[in-house]
Amino acid sequence: MLNEKEILNLIDEAIIARKSAYAKFSNFKVGAALIDDRNNHYSGCNVENSSYGLSMCGERNAIFHAVSKGMKSINVIAVVGDTKNPISPCGACRQVINEFSNENTVIIMANMKKEYKVVKLIDLLPYGFKL
Ligand code: THU
Repeated sequence: MLNEKEILNLIDEAIIARKSAYAKFSNFKVGAALIDDRNNHYSGCNVENSSYGLSMCGERNAIFHAVSKGMKSINVIAVVGDTKNPISPCGACRQVINEFSNENTVIIMANMKKEYKVVKLIDLLPYGFKL
Protein backbone atom coordinates (compact mmCIF):
# COMPACT_ATOMS: atom_id res chain seq x y z
CA MET A 1 0.00 0.00 0.00
CA LEU A 2 1.03 3.60 -0.56
CA ASN A 3 2.01 5.95 2.24
CA GLU A 4 0.37 9.35 2.70
CA LYS A 5 2.99 11.16 0.60
CA GLU A 6 2.65 8.67 -2.29
CA ILE A 7 -1.14 8.97 -2.15
CA LEU A 8 -0.97 12.77 -2.32
CA ASN A 9 1.56 12.57 -5.18
CA LEU A 10 -0.78 10.35 -7.21
CA ILE A 11 -3.68 12.71 -6.49
CA ASP A 12 -1.47 15.54 -7.80
CA GLU A 13 -0.86 13.56 -11.00
CA ALA A 14 -4.63 13.15 -11.40
CA ILE A 15 -5.15 16.89 -10.77
CA ILE A 16 -2.61 17.70 -13.49
CA ALA A 17 -4.36 15.31 -15.93
CA ARG A 18 -7.70 16.93 -15.02
CA LYS A 19 -6.44 20.23 -16.45
CA SER A 20 -6.69 18.65 -19.91
CA ALA A 21 -10.30 17.48 -19.45
CA TYR A 22 -12.57 18.24 -22.40
CA ALA A 23 -15.83 18.73 -20.52
CA LYS A 24 -17.60 21.56 -22.34
CA PHE A 25 -21.04 19.93 -22.02
CA SER A 26 -21.14 18.97 -18.35
CA ASN A 27 -18.46 21.38 -17.12
CA PHE A 28 -17.45 18.55 -14.80
CA LYS A 29 -13.75 17.85 -15.16
CA VAL A 30 -12.25 14.56 -14.02
CA GLY A 31 -8.64 13.45 -13.79
CA ALA A 32 -7.24 10.01 -13.08
CA ALA A 33 -3.77 8.60 -12.50
CA LEU A 34 -2.67 5.03 -11.94
CA ILE A 35 0.38 3.02 -10.95
CA ASP A 36 0.79 -0.46 -12.39
CA ASP A 37 2.48 -3.56 -10.96
CA ARG A 38 5.81 -2.47 -12.50
CA ASN A 39 5.58 0.98 -10.90
CA ASN A 40 4.80 2.80 -14.16
CA HIS A 41 2.55 5.87 -13.87
CA TYR A 42 -0.17 6.80 -16.37
CA SER A 43 -2.93 9.39 -16.36
CA GLY A 44 -6.01 10.52 -18.26
CA CYS A 45 -8.97 12.90 -18.21
CA ASN A 46 -12.60 12.81 -19.31
CA VAL A 47 -13.28 13.68 -22.94
CA GLU A 48 -16.83 14.62 -23.92
CA ASN A 49 -18.49 14.81 -27.32
CA SER A 50 -21.30 16.78 -29.02
CA SER A 51 -22.92 13.37 -29.32
CA TYR A 52 -23.09 13.09 -25.53
CA GLY A 53 -23.13 9.29 -25.32
CA LEU A 54 -19.68 9.11 -26.90
CA SER A 55 -18.10 10.85 -23.89
CA MET A 56 -15.46 8.90 -22.01
CA CYS A 57 -14.59 9.04 -18.31
CA GLY A 58 -11.18 10.05 -17.01
CA GLU A 59 -10.53 6.68 -15.37
CA ARG A 60 -11.14 4.71 -18.54
CA ASN A 61 -9.06 7.10 -20.62
CA ALA A 62 -6.17 6.68 -18.16
CA ILE A 63 -6.53 2.88 -18.31
CA PHE A 64 -6.85 2.66 -22.11
CA HIS A 65 -3.85 4.96 -22.51
CA ALA A 66 -1.91 2.74 -20.09
CA VAL A 67 -2.92 -0.47 -21.88
CA SER A 68 -1.73 0.99 -25.17
CA LYS A 69 1.68 1.44 -23.52
CA GLY A 70 1.82 -2.14 -22.23
CA MET A 71 0.16 -1.89 -18.80
CA LYS A 72 -1.15 -5.24 -17.57
CA SER A 73 -2.21 -4.82 -13.96
CA ILE A 74 -3.32 -1.84 -11.84
CA ASN A 75 -2.04 -1.56 -8.28
CA VAL A 76 -3.68 1.77 -7.54
CA ILE A 77 -5.79 4.31 -9.42
CA ALA A 78 -6.65 7.80 -8.19
CA VAL A 79 -9.64 9.76 -9.45
CA VAL A 80 -10.25 13.44 -8.79
CA GLY A 81 -13.25 15.68 -9.37
CA ASP A 82 -14.46 18.95 -7.90
CA THR A 83 -16.94 17.29 -5.57
CA LYS A 84 -17.95 17.93 -1.95
CA ASN A 85 -17.01 14.40 -0.97
CA PRO A 86 -14.28 12.39 -2.73
CA ILE A 87 -15.56 11.38 -6.18
CA SER A 88 -16.67 7.78 -6.63
CA PRO A 89 -15.99 6.08 -9.98
CA CYS A 90 -18.99 5.16 -12.12
CA GLY A 91 -20.06 1.56 -12.57
CA ALA A 92 -18.60 1.26 -16.07
CA CYS A 93 -15.19 2.40 -14.83
CA ARG A 94 -15.35 -0.04 -11.92
CA GLN A 95 -15.85 -2.88 -14.39
CA VAL A 96 -12.93 -1.68 -16.56
CA ILE A 97 -10.69 -1.37 -13.48
CA ASN A 98 -11.78 -4.93 -12.63
CA GLU A 99 -10.51 -6.16 -16.01
CA PHE A 100 -6.98 -5.00 -15.16
CA SER A 101 -7.09 -5.61 -11.43
CA ASN A 102 -5.06 -7.81 -9.12
CA GLU A 103 -5.88 -8.99 -5.61
CA ASN A 104 -4.44 -5.76 -4.14
CA THR A 105 -6.00 -3.16 -6.46
CA VAL A 106 -7.10 -0.05 -4.59
CA ILE A 107 -8.90 3.09 -5.68
CA ILE A 108 -8.15 6.52 -4.28
CA MET A 109 -11.28 8.65 -4.48
CA ALA A 110 -10.40 12.32 -4.07
CA ASN A 111 -11.62 15.87 -4.50
CA MET A 112 -9.87 19.13 -5.30
CA LYS A 113 -9.31 19.82 -1.61
CA LYS A 114 -7.27 16.60 -1.62
CA GLU A 115 -9.67 14.95 0.76
CA TYR A 116 -9.53 11.28 -0.09
CA LYS A 117 -10.71 7.78 0.69
CA VAL A 118 -8.78 4.62 -0.18
CA VAL A 119 -11.02 1.68 -1.02
CA LYS A 120 -10.41 -1.81 -2.33
CA LEU A 121 -11.91 -2.59 -5.73
CA ILE A 122 -13.64 -5.60 -4.20
CA ASP A 123 -15.56 -3.22 -1.93
CA LEU A 124 -16.69 -1.02 -4.85
CA LEU A 125 -17.43 -3.93 -7.17
CA PRO A 126 -18.17 -7.19 -5.40
CA TYR A 127 -18.70 -10.17 -7.73
CA GLY A 128 -17.19 -8.24 -10.69
CA PHE A 129 -17.40 -10.01 -14.04
CA LYS A 130 -14.20 -11.50 -15.50
CA LEU A 131 -13.80 -14.16 -18.20
N1 THU B 1 -17.07 11.17 -15.29
C1 THU B 1 -15.82 10.65 -15.17
O1 THU B 1 -14.89 11.03 -15.90
N2 THU B 1 -15.62 9.69 -14.21
C2 THU B 1 -16.57 9.23 -13.36
O2 THU B 1 -16.32 8.32 -12.58
C3 THU B 1 -17.91 9.84 -13.37
C4 THU B 1 -18.21 10.76 -14.50
C5 THU B 1 -17.28 12.19 -16.32
C6 THU B 1 -18.15 11.77 -17.48
C7 THU B 1 -18.66 13.10 -17.98
O3 THU B 1 -17.68 13.64 -18.86
C8 THU B 1 -18.70 13.97 -16.73
O4 THU B 1 -17.90 13.31 -15.75
C9 THU B 1 -20.10 14.18 -16.18
O5 THU B 1 -20.73 12.98 -15.96
